[in-house]
Amino acid sequence: MITSATSRARLRSGLAWLIAILLLLTVMLYLTRVYPYQKIGPQQPIFFSHRVHAGDKEINCRFCHPFVERSANPGIPPLSKCLFCHRHVITGHPQIVKLTRHFDTATPVPWIRLMYMPDYSRFNHEAHLEQEIDCVTCHGEVSRMDRIYPIAFQMGFCVSCHHERKAQLDCWLSCHY
Ligand code: HEC
Ligand code: HEC
Ligand code: HEC
Ligand code: HEC
Repeated sequence: MITSATSRARLRSGLAWLIAILLLLTVMLYLTRVYPYQKIGPQQPIFFSHRVHAGDKEINCRFCHPFVERSANPGIPPLSKCLFCHRHVITGHPQIVKLTRHFDTATPVPWIRLMYMPDYSRFNHEAHLEQEIDCVTCHGEVSRMDRIYPIAFQMGFCVSCHHERKAQLDCWLSCHY
């Protein structure tokens, strides 16, 4: 009786260890193999999701970023544009309440900027959009992201496409101020 009780206890603690080790391995695998590739950007002051808006609700990028053709800084839409819908849609949602408060008190939202270019180079969207290069090529699958991940554009990225597309390569003379 005693021996079978102790062996059962041993079996149980053995199993507990096994489960603990498996759990630990799963967590380690997730942290090293999965998490870094999820490419989740920083949490913005208002939890805006491109997946919800550009993905699920299929709102066109240009509805919110209308100056993309004309300006090097297409910028973030003004809150009045959000309220075009959110005066009516989920008005009680805490994030929308926050948004409305920003608007009513004319307090700018401190959005975190995500796209960086080295200061010494020049970029304009116009030339690229004329060539029908999709937003995805440079910004990734934004319409599937809850939080856009930041990109620091490297010259190699620009040059390799310019090479492929036979676009100007003397750019790295002409682009630099
Ligand atoms: C409903 C409005 C809305 C729509 C539609 C929308 N965006 Fe945005 N976009 C925003 C807001 C708000 C931000 C700032 C918050 C953030 O980064 O998530 C932003 C930020 C961005 C940024 C990062 C800018 C930076 O440097 O900080 C990129 C790139 C971008 N959007 C691309 C796109 C693309 C591509 C699409 C279409 C697939 C799109 N957006 C559709 C509202 C919108
Ligand atoms: C050829 C690459 C390329 C394509 C295609 C492209 N972008 Fe960009 N985008 C950039 C780069 C580079 C920057 C950073 C510019 C800078 O910092 O001066 C940027 C910046 C932005 C920003 C942030 C600018 C700001 O004012 O803060 C938004 C928003 C944006 N892009 C939206 C779009 C949308 C929407 C499309 C598709 C209609 C698009 N982009 C297509 C390369 C691209
Ligand atoms: C064309 C209409 C439209 C515009 C413009 C719009 N939204 Fe939305 N938004 C929606 C809809 C539809 C939903 C989903 C509501 C639901 O889940 O029932 C939503 C959901 C949300 C949510 C809820 C959270 C979530 O992830 O589901 C937040 C926060 C939000 N929007 C913020 C914004 C901000 C910030 C802007 C301006 C940059 C904006 N929205 C512009 C239509 C819009
Ligand atoms: C996916 C391909 C692709 C990528 C990526 C790309 N470019 Fe271009 N770029 C082009 C093409 C195509 C043209 C148009 C060439 C033409 O009009 O003959 C162009 C044109 C330009 C021009 C000339 C604009 C003008 O007004 O004539 C500049 C400057 C430029 N790109 C800079 C950049 C920079 C900086 C980056 C990296 C952030 C970049 N490009 C990334 C394909 C690309």
